[in-house]
Amino acid sequence: MSAPPRRAATPVIAIDGPAAAGKGTLARRLAETLGLPYLDTGLLYRAVGRLVLDAGADPADPDAAAAAVAALAEHHLRRDDLRGPAADAAAAAVASLPAVRAALLDFQRGFGAARGAVLDGRDIGTVIFPDAPVKLFVTASLPARARRRWLELEAKGIEAPLARVEEEMRVRDAMDEARLAAPLRPAADAVLLDTTDLDPDAAFAAALKVVRERLDVT
Ligand code: C5P
Repeated sequence: MSAPPRRAATPVIAIDGPAAAGKGTLARRLAETLGLPYLDTGLLYRAVGRLVLDAGADPADPDAAAAAVAALAEHHLRRDDLRGPAADAAAAAVASLPAVRAALLDFQRGFGAARGAVLDGRDIGTVIFPDAPVKLFVTASLPARARRRWLELEAKGIEAPLARVEEEMRVRDAMDEARLAAPLRPAADAVLLDTTDLDPDAAFAAALKVVRERLDVT
């Protein structure tokens, strides 16, 4: 029997999944529609990774990552160099360090605690908000996700062979799934949404249906 809808005082919508599955677009649109704040938690790891690179250090070095996370400020999340292969790899490396994850936990929880929020990432439904009333695990096939990322890069004028984009994505997903600290996996009570054959409107409609079933919202 499915749980009855509830009007949560602080409705948190947790959206997890691998790279380029459509989480960000979906999360942003849900937040806008429901009048909730939105946090792209990947930006936190990207900014920390970028600060380590700025310091000329190795993102897998726990001391360098600890110094970066201690120096992290809100304006770092607005840097324009948080995307691209180097930033992707640095983010995934710092994200596998338990001390980095622990240092970012309170900020993420605080963001959603006051009046609810939509957060997207890898461990929102499993670690950050394990009691979130709505959890979606958004995925798509690797070729579909790589193609989307490749088209995004192309639109920005960045040339990269599709095969390389796919391989880098495969490696990053594998790191996110294999790490011991908060590995990427669906929460037991998450609803799976496969967007391989869905356009953004269809994915949004499916997600909104889940939200309406789980929360008492119209
Ligand atoms: O979502 P995005 O691709 O921007 O995330 C970049 C990297 O940050 C991911 O590959 C993952 O290693 C890490 N991440 C994470 N937990 C989150 C969000 C992102 O480990 N909640």
